[in-house]
Amino acid sequence: MMKTIYGVIGDPVAHSLSPIIHNAAFEALGMDCIYHAFLVKSGHLHEAVNGARYLGFGGLNVTIPHKEAVLRMIEADDMAQDIGAVNTIDLKNMRGYNTDGLGALDSLHDNGIDVANKRVLVLGAGGAARAVIYAMVTNGAAVTIANRTEEKSADLAAYMRSFGTVFGTGLDELRKKVEISDIIINTTSVGMHPNTDTLITRDMLRSDQVVFDLVYRPLETQMLKEARSAGAMVIDGITMLVRQGARSFKIWTGVEPPLDVMERSARNAL
Ligand code: ATR
Repeated sequence: MMKTIYGVIGDPVAHSLSPIIHNAAFEALGMDCIYHAFLVKSGHLHEAVNGARYLGFGGLNVTIPHKEAVLRMIEADDMAQDIGAVNTIDLKNMRGYNTDGLGALDSLHDNGIDVANKRVLVLGAGGAARAVIYAMVTNGAAVTIANRTEEKSADLAAYMRSFGTVFGTGLDELRKKVEISDIIINTTSVGMHPNTDTLITRDMLRSDQVVFDLVYRPLETQMLKEARSAGAMVIDGITMLVRQGARSFKIWTGVEPPLDVMERSARNAL
């Protein structure tokens, strides 16, 4: 028997935690599989995906900067098409999926939060924001996007409005926007190592709010520290990373992976 190979393609990709979480799951389940990070330059995307396919790889994750380009080279499902990005490829049938939005939704559900009829403030309007906003509005939340570049916020809100209730704004008067929100989700790179800034501070928050940061380096970002000291519920980036990964794993293998094992491996690695 030969090991089945899985991997993530991206640039940069060396610091990805995906190999750690997937290999931990394969080991726990006794599956003869291995997951590796592959550095793939933009000009070589087609060759890399087709190479993996014909070498008999089981599946791929796709990360920056390839998530949008992959959409155009394989058959993506409706959710990935609506989001405009693919993060998971099933190489057996060359189908593309996006598990980021559902990973965010699972992170909230597993903390006892149903987003239906909630007011969600999404910080950022980039690739990660698209998946998160899509998952929130299609599950009944009303979303306000607050982004540094207000035009991107307005454009994304206009696009996402075909799926639900979305407003687009800039970062001005953030205090007021936070005040009327039940859930605040950071999808920007603010707070990512070595940057220690935060868009939200303690004095803007209440204990009945949920603060969710997609950044996981460091695990406890300044935003989450502020939220914790305000008594708010905090959800960190590893929670999300593991859940989008678990959904990819299920797509490739048909097997439900052990979330606790994946989560422990990621937390130990950081
Ligand atoms: P990703 O795919 O991870 O979402 P991205 O598409 O490059 O990455 O998006 C990065 C997001 O972080 C953007 O919303 C960006 O704001 P702009 O649209 O104004 O560029 C946001 N961002 C990055 N650095 C920021 C900073 N210092 N302050 C506020 N927002 C920032």
